[in-house]
Amino acid sequence: MWGKYIALIWLSLQANFVFSDKLHYNSSVLEDAKLTTPELIEKYGYKVETHVIQTNDGYRLTIHRIPKHGARPVLLVHGLGDSSAAWVLTGPGCGLAYLLSDRGYDIWLMNIRGNRYSRKHIRYATSDRQFWDFSFHEHGVYDIPAVIDYILPISDHHQVHYIGHSQGTSAVFAMGADRPSYMKKIKLLQALAPVAYFENLRSPIIRLIKPYAEILIKLARIFGIYEFPPNRKAWSRMFYKLCTSTLRNTCKQVLMKVMGLDGPQFNDTLTPLIFSHFFYSASLKALEHYQQLLNSDGFYKFNYSKRSDNIKKYGTKYPPEYNVENINCKVALYYSRNDQLTSHKDVQNLRKKLPNVVHDELLAYPQFNHLDFLIAIDAKKLLYGSMFRVMEKVDKGEL
Ligand SMILES: *[C@@H]1O[C@H](CO)[C@@H](O)[C@H](O)[C@H]1NC(C)=O
Ligand SMILES: *[C@@H]1O[C@H](CO)[C@@H](O)[C@H](O)[C@H]1NC(C)=O
Ligand SMILES: *[C@@H]1O[C@H](CO)[C@@H](O)[C@H](O)[C@H]1NC(C)=O
Repeated sequence: MWGKYIALIWLSLQANFVFSDKLHYNSSVLEDAKLTTPELIEKYGYKVETHVIQTNDGYRLTIHRIPKHGARPVLLVHGLGDSSAAWVLTGPGCGLAYLLSDRGYDIWLMNIRGNRYSRKHIRYATSDRQFWDFSFHEHGVYDIPAVIDYILPISDHHQVHYIGHSQGTSAVFAMGADRPSYMKKIKLLQALAPVAYFENLRSPIIRLIKPYAEILIKLARIFGIYEFPPNRKAWSRMFYKLCTSTLRNTCKQVLMKVMGLDGPQFNDTLTPLIFSHFFYSASLKALEHYQQLLNSDGFYKFNYSKRSDNIKKYGTKYPPEYNVENINCKVALYYSRNDQLTSHKDVQNLRKKLPNVVHDELLAYPQFNHLDFLIAIDAKKLLYGSMFRVMEKVDKGEL
């Protein structure tokens, strides 16, 4: 099985070598594509720290910080297959982490278990099945609480600002539902492209994948694949090579199909950065949990294929719904009509159930897509300005 896989990669690389046209990327951007998050932050003249935090169930998370001692902490939590780089890719003056740092906040960039930076466990290696036994639920119930408990004493504040994108919102919703005591440690929860319900998602690409998703996930499990994509390093090298050369336009088209078409806000110069820092690695169980939600009518916990496992975990044959009424910290929701991975109608259904929504914003720019929350050329004008105003009001006690 692995032989075939390697042969395929080798062939792709050869084909790429033969057919690649000569494209000239900005050399500074090409360099950035090879840097890690702390290297990027340092290159652009900001102070950076790296912290390792152990969760209650033994994962060692590597968190990045743009420190500002004594200032109010902001925790930024990335989405599926992503990393702390999400918030700095577009550089100073554009990236949300830099803008918030400029506004005087102490910035903490999460790396959830299993991602590029957080691949250590006290007992398991990434080649062990047990290592990959998590979805957004574990990020919410273990990873985020561990990080919040680490940040607060260091920062000398008793609340953090939380900003999550996509899966980074599902995770904090799971935390609020299951560990409500943490809600009082959050000053304001800002949810970008919130993901909980899937009743109204009409994305063509999801509809295309949906009928096959379950069987593909089952097959992967039979073959002993627990991380997607398997063989992360080979995948990312191939993906990067193809998507920055021969298949550049194809990759962009696919990306736009998945995220929502928004040509005007996509900065082509950033292509190498996007294809080197995004789409790194996810657990199969995380994909399966979303696949289950896609086929369900609610925001449920993970549905084990054996009923006895559900009974062991939840005391019932089927998994319970997350109790979103428990998410009682101040919440601000930002979402858009052209987001192909979360429907504005589903976010509005969620809003009705949340007890403490202080800001609800369906973005005015009609083409805003799932990735624009991080990399839109005009993200500051279209989104971040509004977030800063809400944060300021909450900080001053006006909201
Ligand atoms: C490359 O981009 C940087 C900013 O990211 C800019 O300062 C530099 O002038 C660009 N170089 C070229 C050759 O376009
Ligand atoms: C695109 O990104 C490059 C590199 O960060 C930057 O120099 C340039 O200003 C961006 N283009 C626009 C239109 O914002
Ligand atoms: C869990 O999966 C079973 C089939 O294995 C299905 O009948 C049931 O509806 C699912 N429950 C939920 C809440 O998703």
